[in-house]
Amino acid sequence: MLNVALPKGRLGEKVYKMLEKAGYACEDVLKDTRKLVFTDEKNGVSYFWVKPSDVTVYVEHGVADIGVAGRDTILESGADVYELLDLKTGKCRMCVASVNGFREDHSRPLRVATKFARIAEDYFARRNRDIEVIKLYGSIELAPVLGLSDVIVDIVETGTTLRENNMGVLEEIFPISARLIANKARCKFKKDEIEACVARLKKELPDD
Ligand code: PRP
Repeated sequence: MLNVALPKGRLGEKVYKMLEKAGYACEDVLKDTRKLVFTDEKNGVSYFWVKPSDVTVYVEHGVADIGVAGRDTILESGADVYELLDLKTGKCRMCVASVNGFREDHSRPLRVATKFARIAEDYFARRNRDIEVIKLYGSIELAPVLGLSDVIVDIVETGTTLRENNMGVLEEIFPISARLIANKARCKFKKDEIEACVARLKKELPDD
C-alpha cells in the first residue's frame, strides 16, 4: 500500500488525475465530501487530503510515503525529504516585488513582507542585505501599497495581482512547480513501489 499526501485544492486535483491515469485510481477521491482519507485496496493506494503547507510534515514524519508540494513550500519548510520528480504543473515564480517607482534606501534594513520568511532571509543573506521580515498570511501585495513594507517576497503566477495594484517584479528568486516528494526511510522500505510510481507518473507528465 502506497500512502500519498495530496494538497487540498486545484493543484492536488490535477495531480490526482495524473496519478489516476498512471494506475492509482481510487473511488470518490474527487467527490465533494468532508472525508479526508480514501483507500483503494485493488490499486494499492491510500490518499490523504491535507493543507498544502502541511504535505511536507506528513511526508517527513513518514505518515505519508510520498506527497505533492510546490517547490516554494518544500524550501520554506526546510523538510528533510527526497524530491523525486518535477510534476511540471502548478508553475509560477518566487519574486521580489514592490510598487512601481520604488527606490531602495540602502542606509537601513529593507522591510520585506512575506509568507516565506526562510526563503526571504536566505535570499537576502546571500546578497548581504539586511532585512526586517514582516510575516503575513495572505494578500501580501497590500503591504507595500499601504507602506507596511518596502517590498514583498511572494509567488507570481499570471502577474495580475501585481498589475492591478500598480506593482511590478524587481527580481526573480526561483521558478516554482509541483514536485513529488518522498519520505527518506520509506524510499528504502518501499523502494520498488515508489520507483514504480515514479516511472508510471513520468509517462503522464504534461509537455513543457
Ligand atoms: C497568490 C500569491 C499572489 C497571487 C499571485 O495568492 O500570494 O497574491 O496568488 O497570482 P497572480 O500572479 O496570478 O495574480 P493566493 O491567491 O494564494 O492568496 P493569498 O493572497 O491568500 O496568498
